[in-house]
Amino acid sequence: MGTYLNDESPPMADTFPIRRVDHVRFLVGNAKQAAYYYHKVFGFDIVGYHGLETGLKHEVDWLLEQGNTRFLFTAPSRPGHPLADQLRLSGDGVMDVAFEVDDVDWAFNAAVERGAKPAKEPWTLRDSRGEVRLAAIHTYGETLHTFVNRDKFSGKFLPGFEDRDVRGHSVGIEEVDHVVGNVELGHMNVWVKFYEQVLGFTQLISFDDKDISTEYTALMSKVMANGNGRVKFPINEPAEGKKKSQIDEYLEFYGGAGVQHIALLTHDIIRTVTELRDRGIEFLRVPATYYEALPQRVGQIDEAISELQDLGILVDRDEEGYLLQIFTKPVTDRPTLFYEIIERKGAKSFGKGNFKALFEAIEREQALRGTL
Ligand code: FE2
Repeated sequence: MGTYLNDESPPMADTFPIRRVDHVRFLVGNAKQAAYYYHKVFGFDIVGYHGLETGLKHEVDWLLEQGNTRFLFTAPSRPGHPLADQLRLSGDGVMDVAFEVDDVDWAFNAAVERGAKPAKEPWTLRDSRGEVRLAAIHTYGETLHTFVNRDKFSGKFLPGFEDRDVRGHSVGIEEVDHVVGNVELGHMNVWVKFYEQVLGFTQLISFDDKDISTEYTALMSKVMANGNGRVKFPINEPAEGKKKSQIDEYLEFYGGAGVQHIALLTHDIIRTVTELRDRGIEFLRVPATYYEALPQRVGQIDEAISELQDLGILVDRDEEGYLLQIFTKPVTDRPTLFYEIIERKGAKSFGKGNFKALFEAIEREQALRGTL
């Protein structure tokens, strides 16, 4: 059974203060085109650029924002870039989930002391607008956590970036709700321990293969959250099943562990999903029988079920309220990265009641790809 582990525990001291997810950084083959896609389709504003014209000689960075969500797209601009091998291996994907912290040096030193593998020692970027301190550690696969503090910087993002002001037509995305990692068989607890011991996270929920299994495939998942509860990282590993699970498929196509999906929070999921669908985003669909069983499963909700069914939005209820969620098909050529759109009406959980219908929908897609 999915189990809430901390319902009755007293609040614990935050042993690793993190303000928030500062930005998610994507390593891509063509950052200009990726930026255009997230701008035109997902409705992000293009707010910053750093590349050849601004003195960055080896790569191109585009910065996009919507609500409190900040995405950074990085592409190597020359052969021999240090990230070129990773790009060749994994294709486009998330390379860094960066945290805003009070004190970068403290965060880096504490993390390394507690067992994190250092990626980049603390360094300072400066321009006429002030300075920003950064450092980075490794997490699963080739993914990084960069620590950033810009308290002494008057610009929007980082020194060197040139401001851009290309407004997108917002779809109502507010912030990153959670970021899910897929790790290799037997490694989930290694990374659970990493987030506990190194970054002071606590485990909110655990799902075993009895919660998350269909006739064919299974996975295990634990949800970790940081001290202030604003950063939530579910971690999945494959479990034994009759056929290849979606997690195995991801690991094969990405070449290892990495970020599987990013859940984006909206306060009006019907509007957000309608806009995204009209702009060409493809969502996973569940059978009509899902909606026939819905009223009995979730009780009274504000939304019309016919409207949810038309869009393919899923609903789940927990002790504190309900949530609405929907999942895109992969947004990359490889079946790796996808998005969840989520609206929370009190519920703080992750949609356990939808797992079965959802994974059967994923398996239908896997069967089409010949990877089930
Ligand atoms: Fe999710």
